[in-house]
Amino acid sequence: MSSDSGSSDGELRIEASLAAFGPRAVAAFGTAATEQELRFARAEILGKKGELTAILRGLGQAPADQRRALGERVNGVRAEVELAFEARLSAITSALRAADLNAAPFDMSLPGRSAERGHLHPITQVSNEILDIFRSLGFEVAWGPQIELEEHNFTKLAFPPDHPATDMQDSFWVKVTGAPSDARVLLRTHTSNVQVREMSTHTPPMAIVSGGSVFRRDDDVTHSPMFHQIEGFLVDESVSFAELKGVLTEFARRLYGPSTPVRFRPSYFPFVEPGAEADVGCVFCSEDDGTRATCRVCKATGWLEILGCGMIHPDVLTHCGIDPERYTGFAFGMGVERVLMLRYNIPDIRLLFENDPRFVAQF
Ligand code: DAH
Repeated sequence: MSSDSGSSDGELRIEASLAAFGPRAVAAFGTAATEQELRFARAEILGKKGELTAILRGLGQAPADQRRALGERVNGVRAEVELAFEARLSAITSALRAADLNAAPFDMSLPGRSAERGHLHPITQVSNEILDIFRSLGFEVAWGPQIELEEHNFTKLAFPPDHPATDMQDSFWVKVTGAPSDARVLLRTHTSNVQVREMSTHTPPMAIVSGGSVFRRDDDVTHSPMFHQIEGFLVDESVSFAELKGVLTEFARRLYGPSTPVRFRPSYFPFVEPGAEADVGCVFCSEDDGTRATCRVCKATGWLEILGCGMIHPDVLTHCGIDPERYTGFAFGMGVERVLMLRYNIPDIRLLFENDPRFVAQF
């Protein structure tokens, strides 16, 4: 059979493929239910690796004089398939739109769902409240580091070297890479380190408060290995225990209410002489309505301990370069968690640090 005697093999094969191709493509579009499925089908049929491209490639085998006509046929079929695609696409889109329009109407009067706002942690809130009281009494706020030299945490505060607080069992000692081998470093066990730092770098008169995290090897329902303290001190000429009592009584009344009873009991801290603890009348049985005998918070004493305090020991002043013959001062320190736990009757200190939103959001 010569090439000009009618249709060649190649031509026949292409004609046959084209004839089957059109209806198959249109049927495939017809079964596509979503725009995504439809576009996927289009890529399979008309794409670079699609059926039509394969047919076009076959054109090379058709006799030269048939190629033009065949090419036109291919383009004709492609145009038909494209039309079928567009038609199906607009059918799918208008079905979607109709579904939207017929759906239950959107209720614009429904209240919006606003994003929840966070707030400061209760410990931070109470710390700020306490610091604000002292600020309003003329104290300045200073900060100190949580990783501290033994010298600032214990030695200059006149702790004897064998004091139990300095023991490995009670403090978290820290190894500092690259530090001299005799450098003794620990996580501060109280905020009293700020006294040492501030007194060593300033000259009286000074009235300073500080606060922050402190660390001890303690862990039960009322003790956490990390907790918070507020510390304050005042140094000037002729400061006496009367100023200590005046300032701390005023503080307690601003925090617990203007008619709160306050008392001072002798106590011992190595860095003060004399030393005391301040108590406020128990807020849980303050009505004195006969419940005191059973009050578990104050253990039926009618008093709650709120802070430690005292006149700064002359040795501590000397260690910090302040002349104890000329200056005297008082100092105090308190636990922030205790204030919160008493105020809200929180039974377990760990609740404060688990940060469960159901708990924290109540403050
Ligand atoms: N640092 C003491 C403690 O952690 C609290 C304290 C007591 C601080 C008496 C003081 C003070 O400044 O004068 O238990």
